[in-house]
Amino acid sequence: MLFKQQVWLRQKLLVLGSLAVGSLLYLVARVGSLDRLQPVCPIEGRFGGTRSQAEFPLRALQFKRGLLHEFRKGNTSKEQVHLHDLVQQLPKAIIIGVRKGGTRALLEMLNLHPAVVKASQEIHFFDNDENYAKGIEWYRKKMPFSYPQQITIEKSPAYFITEEVPERIYRMNSSIKLLIIVREPTTRAISDYTQVLEGKERKNKTYYKFEKLAIDPNTCEVNTKYKAVRTSIYTKHLERWLKYFPIEQFHVVDGDRLITEPLPELQLVEKFLNLPPRISQYNLYFNATRGFYCLRFNIIFNKCLAGSKGRIHPEVDPSVITKLRKFFHPFNQKFYQITGRTLNWP
Ligand code: A3P
Repeated sequence: MLFKQQVWLRQKLLVLGSLAVGSLLYLVARVGSLDRLQPVCPIEGRFGGTRSQAEFPLRALQFKRGLLHEFRKGNTSKEQVHLHDLVQQLPKAIIIGVRKGGTRALLEMLNLHPAVVKASQEIHFFDNDENYAKGIEWYRKKMPFSYPQQITIEKSPAYFITEEVPERIYRMNSSIKLLIIVREPTTRAISDYTQVLEGKERKNKTYYKFEKLAIDPNTCEVNTKYKAVRTSIYTKHLERWLKYFPIEQFHVVDGDRLITEPLPELQLVEKFLNLPPRISQYNLYFNATRGFYCLRFNIIFNKCLAGSKGRIHPEVDPSVITKLRKFFHPFNQKFYQITGRTLNWP
C-alpha cells in the first residue's frame, strides 16, 4: 500500500515538475523574443517592401526571431543570420531631438510597432567628429538586425542643435524622415538643468541654482549663453535644418501630450512614417506609481522607462518662469508658423 502511494506520489511530482519546466521554458522563450513580439507586417508607401505578410509564415518568423536571439547571445554566426534575411539597415527615420523632450519615450513607444526596430543606444554618429570619421559603414554596423521590410529608427538628441549634422544626414539620405519631439520650452530647460544638477550631485559637487544660470545677473535679462535656454529656442535650430530639408520631411511630436495622452501622438507618427496603425491603447497603460504611461508588449511583458526619465524638477522662482516664457514666446510663434503645428504654449 505504502509502495503504491509512493509510486503515485512520484508520478504526480513528475507531472507537476514537467509542467513547471514546460512553463519556465515557454516564459524564457517568450522573454527572449520580446524585442519583436509580433509578426512583421508589410509596410506601405515609401518604405514598402516587396514581400507580403503571406510570404512570412508565422513558424518561419518564430524561427527567425529565435535565430536573432541566439545571435545576440553569441550562439549563431553572422553568416547564419544573413542566410535568413536579417540585415543591418541605415535608419529611415531619425529622432533628432530635442534633448529632454521625451526622445527616449518616443523611441520606445514607436518600437511597439512591429515594423519598427530601434537602435537602443544613442549612436552620436553625425554630431561626433570622431565617430563621423569612421564612415557610414561603421554607422550601419551600429544598427540592430531587422527584416528588410522593417524600418530602423535611431535617436540622438544632440543632432538637433549641432551645426554640422543637417548636412551630414542629408549626404546620407536626402529623403530621410525627421522627428522632433518638443516640450514647452521653459519646462524643457528646467528638465535639462535637473539632469545636469543630478549629475553634479552624484559626484558630490555643488551647482548653481537654475535662476542664476537662466538670468544674466548684470542685465537681469534671459541669459542666451546658457545652453539649456539656447536649446529651447527651437526655431533657431530648425532654421538651420531647413537649409537642407523641406518642412514636409519633419514631424513635430508634442512631448507634453506624449506624457499625458501618448496614443494620439503615436498615431500621428505612424501616419507620418506611412506605417499601418498597429500601436493601440492595449500597448500603453498608466502606472500611477511612476506617474507615467508604461509599455505593454503582451500579456507577460511590460516595462516602464528608467527612473532617470521623469525626475522631480526643483522649484523655480515664478518671476523667472514668467520672464523665460515671455522670452520664448516670439520664437514659439515662429516655430508654429514654420511647422504648421500650434502647441499653445504660454
Ligand atoms: P523629466 O525628467 O523632466 O520629467 P528625454 O528622453 O528626451 O531625455 O526626455 C525625458 C522626458 O521624457 C522626461 O522629462 C519625461 O517627462 C518625459 N517622458 C515622456 N513620456 C514618458 C514616459 N512614458 N515615462 C517617463 N518619462 C516620460
